[in-house]
Amino acid sequence: MNNESIPSKPTKYKPIVYIVGLTAALAGLLFGLDIGVISGALPFIGQEFGIGTVQREDIVSALLWGATFGALISGYFTKKYGRKYTLLISAVVFALGSLGCSIAPSAGILIGTRFFLGIAVGIASFTAPLYLSEIAPKAIRGSMISMYQLLITIGIVLAFSSDTYFATYADLFENVGGHWRMMLGILAVPSIIMFIAIYFLPESPRWLLLKDRKSEANEVLSKIRNTEEEIQSEINEIEETLKVKHDGFKLFAGSRNYRKVIFLGIGLQIIQQLTGINVVMYYAPKIFEIAGFASTPEQMWGTVLVGCVNVFATFIAIAFVDKLGRKPIMYAGFVVMGISMCMVGIMFKVGLDNHPAVSAAATVQPHHVITFAAIAFLLLFIVGFAMSAGPIIWVLCSEIYPLSGRDFGITASTATNWIVNGIVAMTFLTLLEHFGHGNTFLLYGLLEIIFIIVFLLYVPETKGVSLERIEENLMSGRRLKDIGQQGGVRKAVAQSGSKPEFGEV
Ligand code: BGC
Repeated sequence: MNNESIPSKPTKYKPIVYIVGLTAALAGLLFGLDIGVISGALPFIGQEFGIGTVQREDIVSALLWGATFGALISGYFTKKYGRKYTLLISAVVFALGSLGCSIAPSAGILIGTRFFLGIAVGIASFTAPLYLSEIAPKAIRGSMISMYQLLITIGIVLAFSSDTYFATYADLFENVGGHWRMMLGILAVPSIIMFIAIYFLPESPRWLLLKDRKSEANEVLSKIRNTEEEIQSEINEIEETLKVKHDGFKLFAGSRNYRKVIFLGIGLQIIQQLTGINVVMYYAPKIFEIAGFASTPEQMWGTVLVGCVNVFATFIAIAFVDKLGRKPIMYAGFVVMGISMCMVGIMFKVGLDNHPAVSAAATVQPHHVITFAAIAFLLLFIVGFAMSAGPIIWVLCSEIYPLSGRDFGITASTATNWIVNGIVAMTFLTLLEHFGHGNTFLLYGLLEIIFIIVFLLYVPETKGVSLERIEENLMSGRRLKDIGQQGGVRKAVAQSGSKPEFGEV
């Protein structure tokens, strides 16, 4: 039934495929801008409102809780109104939220507006990878979803840079209410651009078929696929999977195979956040400070450097995810992350903690070697994340769920991403204080190693396999690790001893 073969020669896709992909990935840019903007704005917000640590933490985390809520409600919107209109709604919330934050008259209202803005971030983080996975040809699906991650990283670095600009050079803006209002308010501009760009996108053909709008699905596919044969085979595959009509809740209650994959998605997002990436994203200036860089410009430029490395290393994933596959890149990335986090921990233990600031000394001192080595390992950690967990966890989470339970599955995993993100952000400073700098980084380093074992045991390779084949494998009882295989289902079921569950619930 499925045409699974991957062309041996690289196929040429219509340019529109890439334009559509890039436009949808713009949602990632806003996600990144809003994640990155707060680190530079927070000191100015704190000054203006005269608030302490707890309220500062609330201002940071309000966005994450809003995003959790956004991710939880997106399944409803994407199913009812479609992928495209949900992205449009998120662009409106992005714009209103950014403006709301920039004019907040008190810390309490800022917490509220950050929560509101977070809803847009959550909706975007749910809908963009879903849409991309449904619109992309299977042979370049991994690269297209990685493009979304690339735009997240570009968003983060743009926000770091614009913060640095408004903090360092833009005295001009002081008389319009302080720098931080400009930092937050300017993000309404990319939101409006995103709205206009997304307005011109086609709706997802999978969603159109889900809603029995076959002729429209046909029309969309004829714009983005090359031949009539490809269009027909894709429509057949989708229709085949749609014969099993169930919703996520029912599937979850009734299907053991579906529950397995839900837990896999949740586990993958827990792993992504427990790599400790956002410890570096939110607290990079603080890490530069404890490593010995005392001045604010040094810390802010150091943070921009972290952001740039994050962008460039994402290209490694884009280049290799559909060639080498998801798992080899994951192994390589987690080994790099594990080693570098442990080395940062060791640098703290061998004395980074006790050294005077780098900028305090006129000449390079021997202990500066340790400082620079620690920063180099921190950057290497970013490389490890950006080439693996950053993009590939989002790729896997948009691929592993069966169509009729895809919204529910992506809701569960995306909400988990934001919840664990919030927990990591809220515990890092406490861990540093009670557990010590060195031990905290060593702990994250050891976790990376444990995660490699999880990949070995449970994570499938999904390179070049159609979403429909993955679904067929999963629901026929294959082991999680094997749901990306191309081979026949009957043989695999006989091997695993599980019962097929088609039509079972
Ligand atoms: C993660 C974010 C993280 C970002 C960094 C994303 O994949 O979900 O939590 O801040 O990567 O690039």
